[in-house]
Amino acid sequence: MNDAHSFAEPQSARVTHLKLDLQVDFSERLLTGTASFDLQLAAGCTQVVFDTRKLQLQRITDVSGNSLDYVLAPEDPVLGAKLTVQLPAGLQHVVIHYTTSPEAEALQWLTAEQTASGEAPFLFTQGHAIQTRSWIPIQDSPGIRFTYEARITVPAPLIAVMSAEHLGPQTTAGASTFAFRMLEPIPAYLVALAVGVLASREIGPRTAVFAEPVTLERAAFEFAEMERMVEAAEALVGPYRWGRFDLVVMPPSFPYGGMENPRLTFVSPSLLAGDRSLTTVVAHELAHAWAGNLVTNATWNDFWINEGTTVYLELRLHELLWGRERAELLQSWGYRELAAEVARMGADSPDTRLAYDMRGRDPAEGVTVIPYLKGAAFFWTIEKAVGRAALDAWLVGWFGRQAFCSVTTEQLLADLRAHLFARIPDQAAALELESWVHDPGLPESGRPPPSALLQLVESAAADALANKSLAELDTAGWSPQAWRHFLGVLLAGRPAPALLSTLEAKFALSKSHNAEVLLPWLRLQVQAGNQAAIPELRSFLSEQGRTRFLRPLYADLLSSSWGAALAQQIYAERRARYHSLVRLSLDKLLNPAAQSPL
Ligand code: BES
Ligand code: ZN
Repeated sequence: MNDAHSFAEPQSARVTHLKLDLQVDFSERLLTGTASFDLQLAAGCTQVVFDTRKLQLQRITDVSGNSLDYVLAPEDPVLGAKLTVQLPAGLQHVVIHYTTSPEAEALQWLTAEQTASGEAPFLFTQGHAIQTRSWIPIQDSPGIRFTYEARITVPAPLIAVMSAEHLGPQTTAGASTFAFRMLEPIPAYLVALAVGVLASREIGPRTAVFAEPVTLERAAFEFAEMERMVEAAEALVGPYRWGRFDLVVMPPSFPYGGMENPRLTFVSPSLLAGDRSLTTVVAHELAHAWAGNLVTNATWNDFWINEGTTVYLELRLHELLWGRERAELLQSWGYRELAAEVARMGADSPDTRLAYDMRGRDPAEGVTVIPYLKGAAFFWTIEKAVGRAALDAWLVGWFGRQAFCSVTTEQLLADLRAHLFARIPDQAAALELESWVHDPGLPESGRPPPSALLQLVESAAADALANKSLAELDTAGWSPQAWRHFLGVLLAGRPAPALLSTLEAKFALSKSHNAEVLLPWLRLQVQAGNQAAIPELRSFLSEQGRTRFLRPLYADLLSSSWGAALAQQIYAERRARYHSLVRLSLDKLLNPAAQSPL
């Protein structure tokens, strides 16, 4: 298959194993060292092509140190620079000596003050989708899998962790070298590294949490259900193939809720709500251990396969772990968000298609809810048609048949036809699978059945909007998910400021520790023009760095009559602290003049 986001030519020379040896230099914000490769070559092949971005190459050699000729093309703004290395006949191993740039997109270097303890600097990588090439010269396509080993040298007392088996450190004066190996073949976007003062706490036999020592206790409490989650997932989709499932809590500027790096999911500290109410993100990242990491989208045009299957599994896990009522509410919430997004984009907008052409764009830039929620709705529709038992059997079979492979949208459809619909082809035809993945808009068949809790929350919101008294509003036992849904309905109904003050007086929503509740609450304040909320807006936009939370709030402020200048002011103050991927998305909104990768 052809990946428009990589220069690599795997049909002639393909990386099968990577060996990294890197020194981490916090003062210069550089990684320096070597990436060595084992290659699989087609007959007569004379060159190998890598993806790179802003890398400084010192030299490229064979394993004996003999220099090899290479050409580094000029940088393409989206794809980076193509590196072509000449291979003397039959040479299957090359060594690239290089240094990263301080502006490498995948690397976020944080000062001590930007961490929880404030005591030591921190570094983390974010490779998904095409950023790995800015810290490793690599064949950066999700269709190319390789095993890896790494030695990472960091100044004492920092420690390094990676998305791999940890083999333990060697410490010399002032520095430690950590060794890792990943024996399962993975795509480049799943190679991940974090360096900081980190401690760990066992949760279960194959689960642990890593965090800065000051955060460890809270993190261990919040994620205490991890082992149970892995057990539930195995009951659903078959054996967990990665050995351990550990988590590491990132600094606040981590741009996502979670990132499914194999063996070691990276999570945002915004999940530490204190009541385990946001651990569904962990269920999501765990589901990627099958949908994404075991069976991977072949190109970024097939991204919906990773996220759609994952959200479907996330909600199934949610049901197993926390009950049907909560899961159904999330499903309805998802469909509601999806319908709103499709309405916003226009039902005939090409961006509402599941599979679409991402050529010329950074796949991490325009991530919408479409691949997630329309992707999940695709599976809800199939489930409704064939029943859970049949779909579950197909899922287990799919993850077995395609284990450690990368798959296209067409392969997924063909597999569904061959293994799920073989005896009921008429049903496949009736579902219009092709239309589901290739046409814009939202088929009505994806709508989940209304749940009792959903109806309760929605009628409470309707009553509130109709200015009925809130005295009878019985919210006892409402989960943060129920509150989020309630506030989402209010947001669409443009409530009067008086309703918001009554709600605040009664429920102190502005004091919520749950960012999923705070977000719609703050959006309501912006909509109502409540300038008293400015300090809370400011801290929400400063204290965490997730695109999914920042973007809607900035967009609301910009389009309000009073908040545009404030948004510009806060963005100017905070921009340098946001992750490069977040800037990529927010610059479009707030700072069109400064679309440099700074
Ligand atoms: N792998 C994604 C994060 C991602 C998406 C990175 C696109 C780069 C490009 C991760 O699994 C994810 O989807 N995170 C969500 C979790 C949520 C949907 C539960 C997030 O961070 O919001
Ligand atoms: Zn995901």
